[in-house]
Amino acid sequence: MLAELEKLQNEALAAIPLADSDQALEALHIEYLGRKGRLRKIMGELASLPADQKPAAGRLANQVKQRIQSALAERTNERGRTALTPAPPLDITVPGTGRKPGTIHPITQANDELVEVFARLGFETAHGPEIEDEYHNFEALNMPPDHPSRDSFDTFYIGGPGEDSGLLLRSHTSPVQVRVMETQSPPIRIVVPVKVFRPDTVDASHFPMFHQLEGLYVEEGASFADLKAVLGMAMQATFGGFDQHIHTRFRLSFFPFTEPSAEVDVSCPFCSGGGCSVCGQDGWIEILGAGMVDPEVFRHVGYDPERYTGFAFGVGIDRIAMLKLGISDIRLFYENDARFLAQF
Ligand code: DAH
Repeated sequence: MLAELEKLQNEALAAIPLADSDQALEALHIEYLGRKGRLRKIMGELASLPADQKPAAGRLANQVKQRIQSALAERTNERGRTALTPAPPLDITVPGTGRKPGTIHPITQANDELVEVFARLGFETAHGPEIEDEYHNFEALNMPPDHPSRDSFDTFYIGGPGEDSGLLLRSHTSPVQVRVMETQSPPIRIVVPVKVFRPDTVDASHFPMFHQLEGLYVEEGASFADLKAVLGMAMQATFGGFDQHIHTRFRLSFFPFTEPSAEVDVSCPFCSGGGCSVCGQDGWIEILGAGMVDPEVFRHVGYDPERYTGFAFGVGIDRIAMLKLGISDIRLFYENDARFLAQF
């Protein structure tokens, strides 16, 4: 009987700490200590023991009962404490799942730098519509219908086959010159950094959409010397910084909306004019088109060409960004590959 009591105690003390609900504890209580429980059953046999064994067995049975009772109480207590124990305090020093900040697109960077350079020279920023009419894109810029000079600027027309809406995606920034002069009188000093469109075949240096920055300066007495001075300073600021002198070279050229017209080169900032792979061993890099505003353009906007003179220029922003950042393929700008963009 003593052995039976001990076995009962061992089983109870093993089972109680594993009870994980009030119902489980209640069930153990009934199983071991209940009126029809296992302890009562053993104690029922006490009466049939020989008299000399009764006291020891009775004492042990009481001990077992107490131990099971206190084990049940302890487990009940413990479960109560667990339920009430507060969660560990929030550790606000644990690093979060941060998001990497994006970067400014290289075209936007080059754009902002150019705008800033010209702002320091007194030029304001102007804008115009991406969908232009033929008048502003061509006629007002001295490119009459059927004139061969239109060919190099011909672009995407709006409308179905055979339909002539007279609208197109602007093929250069120059129409904004006309729009600004239509609404403002001289003096005018503006730059227009915007998107333009041409049906160019895509390759490493061509894309059907790209960016230009147009400049226009109109004032009484404005001269080619002013043009050279402004572009010289702007190119120095864009490519030279403080420690390298950038030379500009003006080559005679033709644009319908300027007379005389020039193509402007800068001394190669990578080899200081000595010749390298970027400048094709030439020492010069062609950067922009420029010239004195053609009197015909002034007539279209109602300015008196006898009184006002002015200069204009157009520069490719994508090309400037490629040169400054050492990028050899224009397509990279428009693929939205974060691995490329994050480098700048
Ligand atoms: N519009 C010309 C082009 O897209 C660039 C240009 C050349 C603009 C000479 C000008 C200029 O204002 O004077 O190629």
